[in-house]
Amino acid sequence: MSQEPRPRKQIHLAAHFPGVNNTTVWAVPPASPTTTPGRDAARHPALGSQIDFSSFEHLARTAERGLFDFFFLAEGLRLREHKGRIHDLDVLGRPESLTVLNALAAVTERLGLAGTVSATFNEPYELARRFASLDHLSGGRAAWNVVTTSDAFTGENFRRGGFLDRADRYTRAAEFLATARELWDSRPAGEPSRRVDHRGRHFTVRGEFGVARSPQGHPVVIQAGDSPEGREFAASAADVVFTRHGGLAAGRDFYADVKRRLPAYGRRPADLKIMPGVTFVLGDTLAEAQEQAAEIRRQQVSPQTALVTLEQVWGVDLSSYDPDGPLPDIDPDPDGELARGRVRIADPQAVADKWRALSRAKGLSIRETVIETTGRQSFIGTPESVAREMDDFVQGDAADGFILVPHLTPGGLDSFVARVVPLLQERGVYRTEYTGTTLRSHLGLPDPARPVRKD
Ligand SMILES: Cc1cc2nc3c(=O)[nH]c(=O)nc-3n(C[C@H](O)[C@H](O)[C@H](O)COP(=O)(O)O)c2cc1C
Repeated sequence: MSQEPRPRKQIHLAAHFPGVNNTTVWAVPPASPTTTPGRDAARHPALGSQIDFSSFEHLARTAERGLFDFFFLAEGLRLREHKGRIHDLDVLGRPESLTVLNALAAVTERLGLAGTVSATFNEPYELARRFASLDHLSGGRAAWNVVTTSDAFTGENFRRGGFLDRADRYTRAAEFLATARELWDSRPAGEPSRRVDHRGRHFTVRGEFGVARSPQGHPVVIQAGDSPEGREFAASAADVVFTRHGGLAAGRDFYADVKRRLPAYGRRPADLKIMPGVTFVLGDTLAEAQEQAAEIRRQQVSPQTALVTLEQVWGVDLSSYDPDGPLPDIDPDPDGELARGRVRIADPQAVADKWRALSRAKGLSIRETVIETTGRQSFIGTPESVAREMDDFVQGDAADGFILVPHLTPGGLDSFVARVVPLLQERGVYRTEYTGTTLRSHLGLPDPARPVRKD
C-alpha cells in the first residue's frame, strides 16, 4: 500500500534586528547587492543608525512586507567588556527592547513583536504586566524570549553579582514563567478575576493582576538556552526555540532531540517551533555571493576582534601580537584573567592546539584563523539556491523556519524579502498573505491552556 506523501511544511520566518551579536558590520561591502532598487531603497540606505527608531521601523516594515511571523530583539543587560573596554564592533546606546516593541506596534499591523527579557534580573508580576500590555497594544502580537543569564558580570549592574547559582537558572525561569501564567490566567475573559496567591521558592506574588486578559491570553514564549536543562524547559513550556544549530546535521540532531521531549508534557511536535538564527549572503552568481561573504567575514572579525577572541582562549594579554602574524607559541592559561568571555571555553588547550594546527596547515594569520574557526554565513548563494536550501532544511526536519540575522542595519533584509520570499512562495512553502491577526495564529500554535472565552 502506498503511503500518503507528507504535506510540505510551511516555513516560518523572523527578523532579528542586529546589534547584540557578532554579525553587524559597519560598512557596506563593495558592490553589495543588499538593497533593492526602488522607492524604499532610495529613501533608506542599506546602512544607517543602530539605535534610531527609523532603523527599527525600517526592518520591521520590511519583515511585514515579507509576511514574516515576527520581529526579534535580543538584549544584553551589560555591554560586553574585555580588559575594561567595550568591544570595538558592539553597539552602544540601544534603547530598551520592550519600549521599542511598543513603538513598533503602532507602525505595523500583523507582524509579531518578540523581546528578549531575562528571568534572572526581573520579577514576574512586573514582566507579566509589561508583556500583557504589549499584547494589548499590538492586538495579540507579543512574544517573550525568556533568557536565563546568571553570570556575576551581568549581575554587577543589579547590585546582586552572581546571586543565582548557575544550576538554579532554569528552576527560577520555570517558576517565573509559571507565575506569569498564573497572573495572565487570573483574569479570564468575561469572568470575574481571581486573586493570585503564589508562594514558591523564588517568588511570592499575592493579589489581583492589574491588566485585563490580553488577545493571545499568553504571549508567545521563546526559549534560547542550549543545555539539557534549557531543552527540557523549552519542551515543557516554550512555543518557539531560538537555537544556534543552523547546520544541517547539527540542526537535525537538535530538532529530533527537542521534539522527542514533547510527549512527556502532553504536547505534539507542531506545538513547539524550532527556529535557528541564520545569516545569509545573496549574489547574482554563487561566486559573487562567496566573494561578498568573505568580505563580510573580514569586516566582522576586525584585527582587534581577532585578538580579543584569542585572548579569551589563551586567558592572557596578547596585545603585543600582530593580528596579521602567526599564532602564539605559548600555551593558554585556563585560569588566566582574560579567560572569561561570555562563554567559558571548556578546554582552552585543545582549542589552541586545533587552531595552531589549522594555521600551520593553511598558513593562516591570527585574524585569518579566527575568521576560519568562528563561523561562516549559513546561506550563501543566489536567491534560487538559498530558497532551495532553506526549503530542503525545513522539509528535512532540521528546522521549522529561521530567525534571519542580517549583517547590515537597517537595509539588510531588503534583498531577501524582494528576491527570496517570492521564490519560497512559488515553491508553495510560504504564505502569500497573513491569514490571522495574532502571532499565535501565524505560528499555528494552539491556544494557551486556558483559552480566552469568546463571548
Ligand atoms: C541562540 C541564542 C540566543 C541568545 N540570546 C540571548 C540574549 O539576547 N540575551 C541574553 O541575555 N541571553 C541570550 N542567550 C543566553 C541564554 O538564554 C541562556 O542564558 C544561556 O544560553 C545559558 O543557558 P544554557 O546553559 O541552557 O545554554 C541566548 C542563547 C542562545 C542559544
